[in-house]
Amino acid sequence: MTRVPEPTTWEAQAKALIRRRYALLAAADSFHEDARDKAIAAGVPTAWYDALPLRIAGVFSGCGWPADALGDWNQDIVVDLGCGGGLDTRFVAERLPADSVVVAVDLTPELLARVRNSVSDISGASVRMLAGDMERLPLPDGIADVVIANASLNLATDKNAAFAEVARILRPGGQLLAADLVRNGPLPPEILADPMAMASALGGVVEEPEFYAALDRAGFTKIAFSGHRPFGPVVAVDISARK
Ligand SMILES: C[S@@+](CC[C@H](N)C(=O)[O-])C[C@H]1O[C@@H](n2cnc3c(N)ncnc32)[C@H](O)[C@@H]1O
Repeated sequence: MTRVPEPTTWEAQAKALIRRRYALLAAADSFHEDARDKAIAAGVPTAWYDALPLRIAGVFSGCGWPADALGDWNQDIVVDLGCGGGLDTRFVAERLPADSVVVAVDLTPELLARVRNSVSDISGASVRMLAGDMERLPLPDGIADVVIANASLNLATDKNAAFAEVARILRPGGQLLAADLVRNGPLPPEILADPMAMASALGGVVEEPEFYAALDRAGFTKIAFSGHRPFGPVVAVDISARK
């Protein structure tokens, strides 16, 4: 039997902080005061976003819009990894055929109630909500055609484990489509000194070559980083890779 390594105390504490932060956010109508500005700047289609009620629109917490790259909308199973309140999940589920499935996975169980709310009125694919850690996903090998991840991969305390899991659940030829953050050089001292930085998605940000190398180690091919844009003290990028 494969032995699943125990997380270190640091990893366990970081995850507890992440869960606590996002559980608090899950209780708010809007996760950020400027959620609309952030969403539009990230590439969420404006007309689609503006037609959503606040309780749904307010959950945006991403740094891009990886769902745009899905293309032909004919996938059977799409996994939204670190789905947050489920805005990307909704967008994808609305567009996929009714016999497709979107699996919305998040570490923070409180957010999955928001996902249920975010998709309650749509027709399209079925949405299954799954509380789980991207570093040890409770999903079988090779089930996903596409994994999308919007501003969540950088929160993995062990990126090698997370990318290995993404590769494991993708079918051969399946695709990872992500928006995430990278840094040019060291993080500013105020972020390094902030114990909450890991939970706010900045503390775990690595440089692009390190990100690339971790995807490569996990066996991905055709790894591409594009659309670099400033995002606070770091840089947001679109990432695609093939299993
Ligand atoms: C910045 S938010 C992005 C949420 C969503 N993708 C969006 O664009 O609105 C990051 C999300 O990743 C989740 N997360 C953090 N660490 C995780 C892990 N190890 N496994 C699964 N989800 C995780 C958090 O609970 C949070 O919902």
